[in-house]
Amino acid sequence: MKIIIIGASGTIGKVVTEELSKRHEIIKASRNKGDVQVDIQSPKSIESMYKHVGKFDAVVSTTGEGYFGPLKTALDKDFRKGVDSKLMGQVNLVLIGQHYIDAKGSFTLTSGILAEDPVVLGSNLSMVNGAINSFVIGASIELENNVRINSVSPGVVEDSPGYFPYFPGHIPVMMDNVVAAYVRSVEGAITGKIIKVF
Ligand SMILES: NC(=O)c1ccc[n+]([C@@H]2O[C@H](COP(=O)([O-])OP(=O)(O)OC[C@H]3O[C@@H](n4cnc5c(N)ncnc54)[C@H](OP(=O)(O)O)[C@@H]3O)[C@@H](O)[C@H]2O)c1
Repeated sequence: MKIIIIGASGTIGKVVTEELSKRHEIIKASRNKGDVQVDIQSPKSIESMYKHVGKFDAVVSTTGEGYFGPLKTALDKDFRKGVDSKLMGQVNLVLIGQHYIDAKGSFTLTSGILAEDPVVLGSNLSMVNGAINSFVIGASIELENNVRINSVSPGVVEDSPGYFPYFPGHIPVMMDNVVAAYVRSVEGAITGKIIKVF
């Protein structure tokens, strides 16, 4: 398969890229690095990426940012960060990508444990992760040509020790298990699923 991985240079993306590249042709994409540069916050940039890449079978998104901070002082602009980047950035990869992806292709988005298991300072990411999961459920019954869509929802990953102090009592998840979730989505047959790794 020809697979576009957006966020391929990131902590999760680079390990997913390493695994999928054993069996597939990978187009690495991110904001500043890789085979193609894309800013998921810009629909125009997403459209140019798809035009540049040509035909492909799968999109894996391991990207998107949100606001991590106290609810009490949060403003509209803070919450827009998660909406514009992690949520609408990934949603637009699908809205635009559905017109370019090959039949029987797949989209795999990334949400996260905060959708259902909150931590202090994480309300923006809880909101955004929940919306991504719900988008996947809704979009799965409308995507045409047998195109599939799933989200991977990881807990805090063992390779991200900087996050551990914000996740008291959470046991970091093994990167091998996280990578396996992306493989299940891309190489398997499921659709409309939230693949939880925690
Ligand atoms: N790490 C964890 O423990 C964990 C747990 C649960 C969920 N998640 C979620 O998993 C995803 C990846 O996390 P990570 O820790 O691997 O992140 P990361 O190490 O910060 O990497 C983020 C990747 O996304 C790219 N990127 C960021 N903003 C972009 C934009 N606007 N357009 C295009 N590419 C962009 C970066 O590219 P450049 O380097 O070129 O900027 C980089 O390749 C995030 O959605 C995160 O919320 C992570």
